[in-house]
Amino acid sequence: MRRLGEDLAALGLQLVDIENYQSDESGSGRFPPHAVVQARNAEEVQAVLRYAREHRVPVTPWGRGSGKSGAALAERGGILLSLEKMDRILEVSREDMVCVVEPGVILQTLQTAVEAQGLFYPPDPNSQAWCSLGGNLAHNAGGPRALKYGVTRDYVLGVEAVLPTGELIKAGHRSWKGVAGYDITQLLVGSEGTLAVITKAMLKLIPLPRAVSTMIAFFPDEDAAALGVQKIFGAGLLPRACELLDGPTMRYVSPKAPFKFPDNVGGALIVEHDGNSDDAVMEELAKSGEMCTEAGAIDVVAAQDEAQRRRIWETRRMISTALMSVRPFKISEDVAVPRGQLVELIRRVRGIGERYGLPTACYGHAGDGNLHANLLFGSAEEREKSHAAVDDLLQAAIDLGGTITGEHGVGMAKRAFLAKEQSPQLIELQRRIKHAFDPENLLNPGKILPERPQA
Ligand code: LAC
Ligand code: ZN
Repeated sequence: MRRLGEDLAALGLQLVDIENYQSDESGSGRFPPHAVVQARNAEEVQAVLRYAREHRVPVTPWGRGSGKSGAALAERGGILLSLEKMDRILEVSREDMVCVVEPGVILQTLQTAVEAQGLFYPPDPNSQAWCSLGGNLAHNAGGPRALKYGVTRDYVLGVEAVLPTGELIKAGHRSWKGVAGYDITQLLVGSEGTLAVITKAMLKLIPLPRAVSTMIAFFPDEDAAALGVQKIFGAGLLPRACELLDGPTMRYVSPKAPFKFPDNVGGALIVEHDGNSDDAVMEELAKSGEMCTEAGAIDVVAAQDEAQRRRIWETRRMISTALMSVRPFKISEDVAVPRGQLVELIRRVRGIGERYGLPTACYGHAGDGNLHANLLFGSAEEREKSHAAVDDLLQAAIDLGGTITGEHGVGMAKRAFLAKEQSPQLIELQRRIKHAFDPENLLNPGKILPERPQA
């Protein structure tokens, strides 16, 4: 690999130091690539992939390093292909309600740009201030608003992408509708950079809701909070976000948070409604509040102004990082179950924590049954136990009709568990798809799909 950097530089490609491209937010460890290329356009992406094929070097696409599954880590070395410099919003069309972006655009930058025109791009992973759209597409990112508005996939109309052969393809359409051929666009969304490198995306935009209201309800424990979720939906309400925090989460986060939780509460729900009329939205919020009270809420606080609303969300967004400092390590899972199984999932997570003697903290997108269940540990002995506990946790999600990953993806972190959820036939079919795109297995090799069992 000694010549790799020289070769790439000779192709006119921009190389940067590998220092900041070795780990992501998954806690999977450090994986130094041999070289990092910052592509400036699709032609350079093509040049990298052609070179990689000719010299049989692995290539790992990289957005901004905010991934939580290790999918963008250069596990086998080779070239790390950063798309961060391809960061232009090429177009926002009010008429078509479509925007065209490069993969390096920061999500929040796009949201601010379209909202200035009264348009809305709803997907909102909590890393929105620093994550890239390319990473969002690669992982089919979700977030709190996925509850009402769906995930990234629901907004991708078409992509331009470079195949591992170096060929450039355009899939999809600019129209909101289109059913011609296999849906390659949607196959690439969520494929974690294993099939092609997206160099441009056409995204659907919707009208920006004019009214938004937020409340936080406090419960004696997380079971009552989960019951609150069932009651809200039982009443025919569809908030745009419905996030649960359990007692440990609140206790860990509160000291650092801009929004302070009262003492002696063991669960909370953040509920947000939106629409176009203030009165209608307030009415829905009030109904959700009543449902929380019926479920046993001690107190329901509606955000009084935009500043208070922001403090609530800032507090919610900092949970993932704040939990890091509780114990030296955490394993953060993102299982999802059918909404009706939420109460049971929470009960089982608690049981697993008790069985292995590990502190747990649960929070997340309760409205769509997607829970961030964290196992916290410090010692080597606890680390051992946490692995067994993860096994039980993922199995519990599957047993309840759910999935091992609701939004963070498989990457490296969950690849050993994919076969728990999916049949050998389904995994084999995905291997054949991977082979059709990438016969030499050079684009992000080894991610998502587990190794074939040795015969
Ligand atoms: C969140 C991230 C971890 O919801 O998905 O905070
Ligand atoms: Zn999340």
